Amino acid sequence: MRIFLDTANVEEIRKAARLVRISGVTTNPTLIAKENRKDAKAVIQEISSIIDGPISAEVLSLESDTMIEEARRISSWASNVVVKVPISASGLEAISALAGEGIKCNATLCFSLNQAILAASAGAAFVSPFVGRLDDVGQDGMALVEEIVAIYDYYRLSTEVIAASIRHPLHVSAAAKAGAHVATIPFSVLMQMIKHPLTDAGITRFIEDWRRSQEA
Ligand code: G3P
Repeated sequence: MRIFLDTANVEEIRKAARLVRISGVTTNPTLIAKENRKDAKAVIQEISSIIDGPISAEVLSLESDTMIEEARRISSWASNVVVKVPISASGLEAISALAGEGIKCNATLCFSLNQAILAASAGAAFVSPFVGRLDDVGQDGMALVEEIVAIYDYYRLSTEVIAASIRHPLHVSAAAKAGAHVATIPFSVLMQMIKHPLTDAGITRFIEDWRRSQEA
């Protein structure tokens, strides 16, 4: 499973990329707004200069023709940009047209297996089931990831599954067990994943034991 970072914070991306391989980044309008950045193009281009994998940037248009125009503009921002398009009727029409032009789409806001089947059929490069938001409404978000991975495998569909809306480290390990191709992870969750009290205790003990042996 590859690790993407789910953030529009450039400093977080730089820090994370010093620790592990960050294979891509996903953003959305909320994440860019959170950074108080007004120019989405500048943010995405900055991220693209740091990470060479897919960088998702989302369309805001609602009609398929305006979505397609917006997606074409977004995809011209950098060679590794992937356009995030919501799974609606307009979104599927846009994904189908864009796939025909060779523009990669990340079919986002996926909350059902049927939506994922349609996204793959439209030619989306990625589909993003939102695990945390399903959990929030009392549905098992990770069960959806498992179902999509199983069906895509069974029918040999090439669309990659990004476990999104990840809220805690258990989501990440469950996504890996479910066979997700990618987990897109907030920086805070990446930091939580590193920590284990036995690692900290082990480091302290090795240092203390070594010091004691030197003093003896
Ligand atoms: O990757 C999608 C993500 O940004 C949404 O996360 O926590 O707002 O549901 P959240």
